[in-house]
Amino acid sequence: MMKTPDSAFAPPQIITGKARLAGVLGWPVSHSRSPALHNYWLRRYGIDGAYVPLPVRPEQFEAAVRGLQAAGFRGANVTIPHKEAACALADRLDPSAQRAGAVNTLVFEEDGRIRGLSTDGGGFVASLEAGGLPVPASGRALLLGAGGAARSVAAALQDRGVQVSVTNRTQARAESLAAVLPGLEVVPWEAWEAGLGAYDLLVNTTSLGMEGGPDPMFRPSLKAASRALVVADIVYVPRLTPLLAEAEQHGLKTLGGLGMLLHQARLGFREWFGQDPVVDAETEATVRATF
Ligand code: ATR
Repeated sequence: MMKTPDSAFAPPQIITGKARLAGVLGWPVSHSRSPALHNYWLRRYGIDGAYVPLPVRPEQFEAAVRGLQAAGFRGANVTIPHKEAACALADRLDPSAQRAGAVNTLVFEEDGRIRGLSTDGGGFVASLEAGGLPVPASGRALLLGAGGAARSVAAALQDRGVQVSVTNRTQARAESLAAVLPGLEVVPWEAWEAGLGAYDLLVNTTSLGMEGGPDPMFRPSLKAASRALVVADIVYVPRLTPLLAEAEQHGLKTLGGLGMLLHQARLGFREWFGQDPVVDAETEATVRATF
């Protein structure tokens, strides 16, 4: 049940005739926490602006984007299933989007061109750093999954000098990922638990362990982990996934998925509304209150 974020956290929103506008395009989009997050920041910083959910069917995606541009929007976030279409539509891609093969943030430039960014992977790395768990320089990371989230996290980790391995139920998909991200190692799905001792960071990029997902009870063995392993999950419902609970039981450091959601939003907010927003306990509590 979605609740309105606690209004005690920030003053009322200002929306005048000059308001700056942005939103999130998705299908469906009703689950998105981005409106709660961005409007909280707008209230917190007293910015004249609004951020709205934009439910758009795949076949209407381009028309919707052109319409938003025509209506003076500053840009938009893009979520499932539009991230690849957004990549194709953008006139200019930041290196992050080129590497991720997807776009989650569109910026409408004043000259009419559209710039595409991918902030998911950078958001993940920022949340590790904010959690006091910086990626070890030339350390090793193992990613579970080979979908779009895996690609952006893998690219962002590689960009910081981390040696990244990927394991996926369907190995061919992991191999396709290795073909576009040179240096990526593929580990067989059946072998990753036993080989865990070689890694500094384990990241679940799948929906395994997610409430309502394919396997909410996903709780792999971490017996082979080194004592220094950091275990991260991009799933944020529930807050403590079975994987993270298992890690805690082994005394390992853990990171939940909400930080990635919060940090990936910062860059778009800065582009559209001209302010670098903070991610702190109040920000997290505001978004948590919507679950
Ligand atoms: P996204 O692009 O958001 O990452 P996705 O492309 O659907 O989402 O990827 C989902 C990931 O979860 C994939 O790595 C998928 O594995 P497959 O490529 O083998 O399908 C993984 N996944 C989903 N359900 C799974 C299950 N029951 N067991 C193991 N992996 C699963």
